[in-house]
Amino acid sequence: MSGAFEEHHRGSTWWRCARWLTAVGFFIFAANGVAHSFTETQAESGARIYQHQCGRCHKPNGEGKDDSYRGLRAPELIGGTALPCRPRALQKIRTSDFRTVKDVYEFVSATMPADQPASLSAEEYWNVLAFILQRNGTTADNKRLTATTSREITLRSECAPGSAAVAHEAQL
Ligand code: HEC
Repeated sequence: MSGAFEEHHRGSTWWRCARWLTAVGFFIFAANGVAHSFTETQAESGARIYQHQCGRCHKPNGEGKDDSYRGLRAPELIGGTALPCRPRALQKIRTSDFRTVKDVYEFVSATMPADQPASLSAEEYWNVLAFILQRNGTTADNKRLTATTSREITLRSECAPGSAAVAHEAQL
């Protein structure tokens, strides 16, 4: 897409639609609800924390980076392949499944940033997760993301607790 094209269309309905469709393309979280428990304020604060504490390895747009810590790839946190149920074959630090946002919190708050584990406050971790939810195309329902509400947010439909698809995936 050329700069001139972008310039011409920015702000137009067409451009807003294209951006919206991109967000929908990145919609990875289980879709029984479109809005999830986090607040705009949490996501805004999380965006700043992400850029300072996570972006240097996971990249500012969350696409991930090879060899970011002790030879390990910092996986993508945003986009269609982000946050799979099962750890990827080459992962070393992560050994747990991610079924709900609470599972991601448990992992991240104990191990991230990889070079300074558990160095943020609980509130900061929740805010970063709100930002990651938002960037993956979900909408804030303005109820805070907390230890309680995060249990209700399933990451992918096939990750739902007790789902047969998880067993199937494990055989692949
Ligand atoms: C020094 C580099 C580094 C920094 C900084 C860092 N990470 Fe990571 N992160 C990694 C690496 C490497 C892995 C992969 C660990 C493994 O192989 O199991 C990872 C894995 C993860 C995962 C698991 C993703 C998946 O799909 O399995 C999440 C979630 C995550 N990081 C979130 C964060 C957040 C949030 C921050 C900021 C608070 C952060 N990371 C900061 C290097 C980093």
